[in-house]
Amino acid sequence: MDFSKESIFTDARSHKKFGGDQLSEKDIRAIYELTKLAPTANNSCPLRIVFVNTAESIEQLAKCALDFNQEKTRTAGSAAILAYDLDFHTKFTTLAPHMKQPTVHSGWPVDRLERYALANANLQIGFLIAAARALGFDCGPMGGFDSKAVESHFFGDTRWKFNCVVLLGRGDDQALRPRAPRLAFEDACRIT
Ligand SMILES: Cc1cc2nc3c(=O)[nH]c(=O)nc-3n(C[C@H](O)[C@H](O)[C@H](O)COP(=O)(O)O)c2cc1C
Repeated sequence: MDFSKESIFTDARSHKKFGGDQLSEKDIRAIYELTKLAPTANNSCPLRIVFVNTAESIEQLAKCALDFNQEKTRTAGSAAILAYDLDFHTKFTTLAPHMKQPTVHSGWPVDRLERYALANANLQIGFLIAAARALGFDCGPMGGFDSKAVESHFFGDTRWKFNCVVLLGRGDDQALRPRAPRLAFEDACRIT
C-alpha cells in the first residue's frame, strides 16, 4: 500500500487508456473496504457499486458509453459503476439507528432525498479514487454514459441512479496530455 501524497495526488492522473488487466476479487474487495470508511452525513452511505470485471461486461459497459468514451472504456479490464441509492434510508436501522427514516412520508421531498444521496455518494467516490490509488491502481473517472442504458443493464430491479464510472487498472502514462491547470488558492479560497 502506498498512502503517499504523490501516489494519491501529485503523481496521480485521470487515465484515458488502460492496459486491459483485470483486478482480482481480493483487490476489488480491498478497494471497497477503504471506500466504505468515507464520512457521510448521518453515516448514510448511499453509494452503490457494480464492479465490472469480465471482457463481456466491459463490452456491455462500453456500449452504454457516449461515443467519445467508448474506446477508452474498452481499454480497461475492470471498472466500477458508481450509483446513489434513492432507498439509502432503508439501511438507517443499521447505519444510523438514532435517525428517523427520512422518507417522503416523514417529510423529505424526493428532490431533497436525491440531493442528499448524490452529495454523499460523490464524497464516497472521492474516497474510492483515493483508495484505489493507495492500493496501486490508476483510475479513469468518466461521466459520459447513457444513464438509462447503464441503469437498465446493470442495476436491475433497484432504485439506484447512475452517477459515473471509474475505470480501474494500470493506466498508460504515454496517452496522457499535460495536466490542466487548477485554480490558485487566491481564486478558490478565503481565510477569515
Ligand atoms: C465526475 C467526472 C466525470 C468525468 N467525465 C469524463 C468523461 O466523460 N470523459 C473523459 O474522458 N474524462 C472524464 N473525466 C475526467 C476529467 O476530465 C479529469 O478528471 C480532469 O480533467 C482532471 O484530470 P487529471 O486528474 O488528470 O488532472 C471525468 C472526471 C470526473 C471526476
